Amino acid sequence: MKILATGGAGYVGSTVVRTLLQRGHEVYAYDNLCKGYKESVPAGRLIIGDINDYHKLCTVFKEKQIEAVMHFASYIAVGESCEKPREYYDNNIAASLNLLDAMMDCGVKKMLFSSTAAVFAPLGDNDPALTEDSPKAPDSPYAFSKFALERIIDHYSKAYGLGFTILRYFNACGADNDGCFGEAHDPETHLIPLVLQVPLGQREFIGVFGSDYPTPDGTCVRDYIHVEDLADAHVRAIEAVEPAKADYFNIGTGNGNSVLEVIKAAEEVCGCKIPVKFLPRRSGDTSRLVAGADKLRKQLGWTPKHTDIKEIIATAWKWHKAHPKGY
Ligand code: UFG
Repeated sequence: MKILATGGAGYVGSTVVRTLLQRGHEVYAYDNLCKGYKESVPAGRLIIGDINDYHKLCTVFKEKQIEAVMHFASYIAVGESCEKPREYYDNNIAASLNLLDAMMDCGVKKMLFSSTAAVFAPLGDNDPALTEDSPKAPDSPYAFSKFALERIIDHYSKAYGLGFTILRYFNACGADNDGCFGEAHDPETHLIPLVLQVPLGQREFIGVFGSDYPTPDGTCVRDYIHVEDLADAHVRAIEAVEPAKADYFNIGTGNGNSVLEVIKAAEEVCGCKIPVKFLPRRSGDTSRLVAGADKLRKQLGWTPKHTDIKEIIATAWKWHKAHPKGY
């Protein structure tokens, strides 16, 4: 399939681009490099462009005969979105509308959209995991921007015959086995890369946002999903998209780990103590997000290969040790 991946030079996007190429698809990363890294995209596969640029998108769709779009490009930090809602709505909603319009005008009728577990209301104490139909309560501007676009895509599907799959990621993390491609954001806000900055000697302690959440140890629980397992789900999902057909999948392992459990696992992987400092809660955070990904397993035959948090952190540690300053 001929695919354009917006945000294809980002952490998840570039992993999916490399996986699609390995599996025989013709894919291009379309990225303005405001957050992504050209080094993460295989040679000849990067198109530098903005999703705000309608004419460039139309030119690329026609020249490359694009059949499907995977839409990764977005701002992704929950906490930051509470401080900068305008930027999140501009980039994640307004620019995405431009992309959708260019797709419709050029007859591109298949789409995969990177949504998030943050659209869900937090899990109750007795609920094991979030299914695709669990109640939604997008709290932060980031989560709301993703939820709004989910709805917009659905409306475009009904009116214009767009076939789409929404993938709701839990917490993407880890690096490839060879330690060549890993997680790098500037500024970094994600837990695992920040924790690993302590053994790298780049920070003295890890700040823990909140210790009074209704979870067993009082810190937030997340479902950490290895980026290569995420990528595998994308390939299966895009191959199953059909015009005018809609689907939704959660992508997570079904295991929840608290912030303190992640730190402990990182201490074991790195073989050193990681000092902790408890800080106030971060705006927009939800207490517990754990995936029920049975639908993905049953419908698309997906199984995560990485389910142990220590093993996942070990892949990240290999990359961060080899690239202490990122790409
Ligand atoms: N955390 C800390 N200290 C830090 C950084 C994070 O305690 O220095 C905590 C957060 O408060 C949160 C947990 O670690 O409880 C995970 O935080 P991340 O920033 O790593 O990830 P988020 O859960 O906030 O968000 C990530 C992605 C989103 C995605 C979401 C899905 O950034 O795009 O996972 O669950 F939507």
